[in-house]
Amino acid sequence: MLNDAAVLILAAGQGTRMKSRMAKVLHSAGGKTLVRHAIDTALKIAPPERVFVVVGYQAETVRAQAEAAGIRTIHQTEQLGTGHAVMCGQEQLARLGGRLIVLVGDCPLIRAETLEDLAEAQRASAAGAALLTTEVEDPTGYGRIIRGADGGVREIVEHKACTPAQLAVREINSGIYSFESAALWNHIHQIRPDNPAREYYLTDMIAILIRAGRRVEALRIADFGEVLGINNRVELADADRILRARKVRQLMLDGVTIEKPETVTVDAGVKIGIDTIVGPFACITGETVIGENCRIGQCSIVHESVLGDEAEVFPFSIVSASRLEGKAHAGPFARIRMGTHLAEGAHVGNFVELKKTRMGAGSKSMHLAYLGDSSIGEKVNIGAGTITCNYDGRKKNETKIGDGAFVGSNSTLVAPIEIGEGAYIGAGSVITHKVPPKALALGRSRQVHKEDWTKK
Ligand code: UD1
Ligand code: CA
Repeated sequence: MLNDAAVLILAAGQGTRMKSRMAKVLHSAGGKTLVRHAIDTALKIAPPERVFVVVGYQAETVRAQAEAAGIRTIHQTEQLGTGHAVMCGQEQLARLGGRLIVLVGDCPLIRAETLEDLAEAQRASAAGAALLTTEVEDPTGYGRIIRGADGGVREIVEHKACTPAQLAVREINSGIYSFESAALWNHIHQIRPDNPAREYYLTDMIAILIRAGRRVEALRIADFGEVLGINNRVELADADRILRARKVRQLMLDGVTIEKPETVTVDAGVKIGIDTIVGPFACITGETVIGENCRIGQCSIVHESVLGDEAEVFPFSIVSASRLEGKAHAGPFARIRMGTHLAEGAHVGNFVELKKTRMGAGSKSMHLAYLGDSSIGEKVNIGAGTITCNYDGRKKNETKIGDGAFVGSNSTLVAPIEIGEGAYIGAGSVITHKVPPKALALGRSRQVHKEDWTKK
């Protein structure tokens, strides 16, 4: 945390190079939108009342992201450039004093520690501004850092405006700065749109401050990855790959075994307990929480779900918005969705689909079944091929199955229906009436034999 800093995130642009109907900062990498990455990083260095997002293109949707994080927005009606975007914040920000950290909304990999280093570089040298730079192999598209004979920064020249000699410069502007607030607001109106794009470039502030006799520091970092700017979908995929790698690496360091980690996708918000084993190509997304000693089988998808200790999801299963208590098992090839709850030790096997269904402790449905809108007690056995007919063409109806019941294979349970505790359903039955506890229900025609039928 920095004690005297406010943060301004520039996120009003359209992002034409994405070739998208959606604003660039709303695209996701590592399971979070680009703007949300910037916001979450900003919140690590400043309190929410000192973090602001400049919105413009698709302002309502971008604003919703800011509001969800508890921060305010500033409206840039026309997107006239990064310098203009900052000018739009003058009224709200100038009175805060201290320092202003400016972030671009399309740079999701920047770490809070680096921003703190940048602020420190500016403070220590009493500079009017400090900017974050790095050297890259291919500087195409970035602003170049032009240094004077003394090695100090003189100006930033945008790619389009570079001379051939400047194009060869490999030190680039990250678009991230720490400004002394007073210096910024005293001089920002000197930025002129005197470039072919007719934009107000924030990068012009560097030369402006130097002309005003202020010092400008550059903090050059080694890791280009951290300042990768996302302008097209190739860079979006690069950022996604780096964020995924960071997340699985952290999980491994925290005690989770991840097999073939380069194939595994884990969203930023996922939590996993120690000694859990995640198989290749698993995909764990949303705000999923997985306990200790669990197993997530290869190619399984677990989304927005909670798994207790020792729960296992066998390969090729999908678990979504559901809860598996400790030692519950699902899969292989299971589909568990929409508010399903497997109590401790419940087992669901291959080609079983559960929707809004609660399965009590120790209950089993091992093969080929559909159980929807059902409440199933403890130690119930659901035979292969059992189907709850929960939809009557107009509405969904519920099925209740009491503790210890045994549902024979290929049973059809027409909901709303209730099966009493300890009841038996004969295989192949179509059950349309409530079954009393401990009863045997047979809902099928009796088998007949026609003697010598083939001969006749
Ligand atoms: C900018 C820098 C460039 C730097 C690069 C780093 C300028 C002039 N150039 O270029 O030196 O190397 O970032 O990634 O600053 N935005 C607004 N309002 C606007 C225009 C843009 O809010 O009117 C926002 C965009 O939504 C985006 C960010 O500012 O999040 C950067 O804009 P972008 O157009 O991507 O700048 P670059 O051309 O990449
Ligand atoms: Ca950019």
